[in-house]
Amino acid sequence: MTNLVLYRKYRPKTFGDVMGQEHVIRVLTNALLANKVSHAYLFTGPRGTGKTSMARLLAKAVNCENLQTMPHSGTNCKLQTNYEPCNQCSSCREINQGKAIDLIEIDAASNRGIDEMRELREGIKFVPVKSKYKVFVIDECHQLTKEAANALLKTLEEPPMHAIFILATTEPQKMIATIISRCQRFDFCRLKAKEIFETLEKILKQEKIDFEPQALNLIALSSCGSLRDAETLLDQAISFSGAESLVKKEIVEKILGITDNEIIFKFLNYVFQKQTKSAVEFLEEIIYKGIDLQEFAKTLIIYLRGLLLLKISPGFQDTLILLSEEEKEKFNELAKNLSEKELKDLLEKIMAAETKMKYSSLPQLLLELAIIE
Ligand SMILES: Nc1ncnc2c1ncn2[C@@H]1O[C@H](COP(=O)(O)OP(=O)(O)OP(=O)(O)O)[C@@H](O)[C@H]1O
Ligand SMILES: [Mg+2]
Ligand SMILES: [Zn+2]
Repeated sequence: MTNLVLYRKYRPKTFGDVMGQEHVIRVLTNALLANKVSHAYLFTGPRGTGKTSMARLLAKAVNCENLQTMPHSGTNCKLQTNYEPCNQCSSCREINQGKAIDLIEIDAASNRGIDEMRELREGIKFVPVKSKYKVFVIDECHQLTKEAANALLKTLEEPPMHAIFILATTEPQKMIATIISRCQRFDFCRLKAKEIFETLEKILKQEKIDFEPQALNLIALSSCGSLRDAETLLDQAISFSGAESLVKKEIVEKILGITDNEIIFKFLNYVFQKQTKSAVEFLEEIIYKGIDLQEFAKTLIIYLRGLLLLKISPGFQDTLILLSEEEKEKFNELAKNLSEKELKDLLEKIMAAETKMKYSSLPQLLLELAIIE
């Protein structure tokens, strides 16, 4: 394995490599096909969902010397036919290597200034050195200062034929409306847990690393729809696994600070059955086993919240995301005999204990008191 981090190593090189975001790909490739590429785009959406990747892909596609129509079989994208950059011509290769002179990437988070925008306005007049289009990608563009944004606005009003702007941001609400209205806007979606799972699975197959499906499930569910976050977590899990070359659920739980389901089950079972003595003894036992009480309490809260929501409506089934179908059934069974109020009270008590635990010299006692109550 090279030491390039996963999320960089697996940056999509074709539209087909992109997971999800079909609505964006469809419109972009149709525009390419019809030769109607717009001069300003705005890519918005949560972090790690493919905005920068898509911007580079578009830059590659508009400058590719032999853009190809190809079916998308065997790739992530569910579209049937598409336009793809060839990844072989000199333009494509230079972009892949990060060396293209006609792809100008500006990180507005570090270049917030009006000087950069002035330079951009000067530079943009010159025709591209090698390619058909000069593509300017302005990342985190909500961070531009007001003056810089106004300077950019002037450029966006009358961009030269050879220029394409792609603005990317996680916070469109912070951008001035006049810029937004001059761009064709695409909202990127969070990726579904299933899509993340499939991507990670594919990466591990390529890296020839084995995994427990539940480990990937946990990563997929805890990365909040960001594929980059998921890939970073996977990276961590791989290095934790060391020479074993197997990504285990246990390791991911450790990294995330999540307590094993079964422990939570057993504990809640005692509590729900009002077996105070067993519950307190069980606490003692898990402390002895080295489980971090603070993390245990945090996990308890996540689960109790899920149960409470389920009580309110079965429609909240998906909130019990960390559980398998079988476990969900067990859980439903557990919660059946409790009232909404009982669950709410329990949740409040555990939450109060968890907050105080950080400052207590005897954190165990706080949980015990909560249980006894
Ligand atoms: N939709 C996607 N399909 C495939 N890979 C993705 C996707 N989204 C993110 N990734 C992975 O995450 C990495 C980072 O994605 P990218 O830089 O495009 O995210 P971004 O939306 O620009 O995030 P940010 O808002 O943090 O800049 C990619 O290199 C790739 O490995
Ligand atoms: Mg980005
Ligand atoms: Zn090419």
